[in-house]
Amino acid sequence: MFIFNKPKTPTSIFTSFHSHLTSHPLITLFIFTIFLIQILILCSHSPSPAPELSSSSAVEKCPNGYIYVYNVPSMFNYDLLPTCKDLDPWHWQCGVATNAGYGTPASELSGIIPESLMPAWHRTNQFSSEIIFHNKLLKHNCRTMEPQSAASFYIPFYGGLAVGKYLFSDSTNESRDFHALELIKWVQSQPYWLKSNGLDHFIVLGRITWDFRRLTDPEQKWGSTFFNMPEMQNVKRLMIERAPSDYRDIGIPYPTGFHPRSDTDIQTWVKFVRTYNRTSLFTFVGAARDDIGDDIRGLLLRMCRDDSVSGTCKLVDCGVTLCANGSLEIMSSLLGSEFCLQPRGDSFTRRSVFDCMVAGSIPVLFWNRTMYDQYEWYLPKEPESYSVFIDHDDVSKGKKSIKSVLESYSREKVREMRERVIEIIPKIVYSEGEMNDAFEIAIDGVLRRFKEEKYQRLEEAELNMARN
Ligand SMILES: *[C@@H]1O[C@H](CO)[C@@H](O)[C@H](O)[C@H]1NC(C)=O
Ligand SMILES: *[C@@H]1O[C@H](CO)[C@@H](O)[C@H](O)[C@H]1NC(C)=O
Ligand SMILES: *[C@@H]1O[C@H](CO)[C@@H](O)[C@H](O)[C@H]1NC(C)=O
Ligand SMILES: *[C@@H]1O[C@H](CO)[C@@H](O)[C@H](O)[C@H]1NC(C)=O
Repeated sequence: MFIFNKPKTPTSIFTSFHSHLTSHPLITLFIFTIFLIQILILCSHSPSPAPELSSSSAVEKCPNGYIYVYNVPSMFNYDLLPTCKDLDPWHWQCGVATNAGYGTPASELSGIIPESLMPAWHRTNQFSSEIIFHNKLLKHNCRTMEPQSAASFYIPFYGGLAVGKYLFSDSTNESRDFHALELIKWVQSQPYWLKSNGLDHFIVLGRITWDFRRLTDPEQKWGSTFFNMPEMQNVKRLMIERAPSDYRDIGIPYPTGFHPRSDTDIQTWVKFVRTYNRTSLFTFVGAARDDIGDDIRGLLLRMCRDDSVSGTCKLVDCGVTLCANGSLEIMSSLLGSEFCLQPRGDSFTRRSVFDCMVAGSIPVLFWNRTMYDQYEWYLPKEPESYSVFIDHDDVSKGKKSIKSVLESYSREKVREMRERVIEIIPKIVYSEGEMNDAFEIAIDGVLRRFKEEKYQRLEEAELNMARN
């Protein structure tokens, strides 16, 4: 039969069927039956796709609405980029901008990490999140070019670089505040800012919150007054360290050197860290501060040095090794240890907490503000499931020995905790593909918060109307 000899599209079947309509009624009936059977077979073998409803699929893709990225004058972002390309320990901002914020390839890791993952590892600067987020948001699925259809507004201001130029020099208040003040002037000329007074606006800054709060700094000396400015009081800020009492501050993971390109990269890496032969109980990567009397870092450094003789602790003394440059020694210490010590540094948070977990090592915290109070969208609810907490007071007063605390965990318990750490890895990395990574979790969280706050405001307005 002609129908079975050639593959037909439904139209050609219909045409052939139609051309025989005029012949014998029995043939017509026969062809009609075959035609029906054909249709039935077609339907049962290839279920018809759901009808494309553009509006409902848009809601599915961006359930919390679209993001508008402001095109701010380049003085607020591109002009602030440093020109030095590699990580130079004497200049904190070097390498921030290289490769969309990911930095140069980490060729020094060759030989220690799986060769297939070499392209996923970079020398990433810890202060590059403002660049990473900007680049990723420009390419985001939910970005809209039309501000009238946006549910949220992103201001791509590299505020970390702007203030960072002046942090470590004797500079005037005016120079520290200059870019922030100019930015405030600029946004106030924008209709969608005026409409909401910044309530649906957000920024991402590469440095910690304390770099933008000079008026509330106990010494009134450090940083700019960006967050003290009245115009900034509605704006959400994504940062690597938040002020725990400020709901507008949102903590996001420090960028590490690992930027997986796919789920396969994640799987390869997870398998690698799960089975790595960890020969030390713990590691400490850090430098002591001679000028601080009861500096816990100095204490941990000495403790670790003593325990390194027996192989219990692996020490990377950043006073001797250049920790900002090249991460081979750090990587091998983190991979080779069950636990890693994470005391506070100049501020409460540390990039090393994330390096540690990415390497599958279990973090040991001494201050709650180093982690638990910072990154709630990224971490499980129960801190003891994936980390160890030893109060810093107990350590500095000699009440607790870190070694005995860590030795009290059974092999099985350590294995369980490492599994929880491994589950966190995909959430805290900034990927090079489209994955549910630290970036997506942050953006999703901000958009959800805008939505919740909007409903809250509407409800309050209704309540007020009902009362009056
Ligand atoms: C700089 O600003 C701080 C407040 O943040 C203030 O205490 C200080 O006096 C200012 N310095 C000068 C030179 O104006
Ligand atoms: C792990 O390393 C130790 C010390 O180098 C060695 O004795 C042990 O055999 C290694 N274990 C495995 C499973 O490779
Ligand atoms: C840091 O590493 C880069 C190469 O990765 C090198 O060019 C530079 O000299 C290093 N800096 C220091 C201070 O060692
Ligand atoms: C800090 O976190 C630990 C572990 O979750 C908890 O036991 C402790 O109560 C917390 N301390 C404070 C002051 O919140």
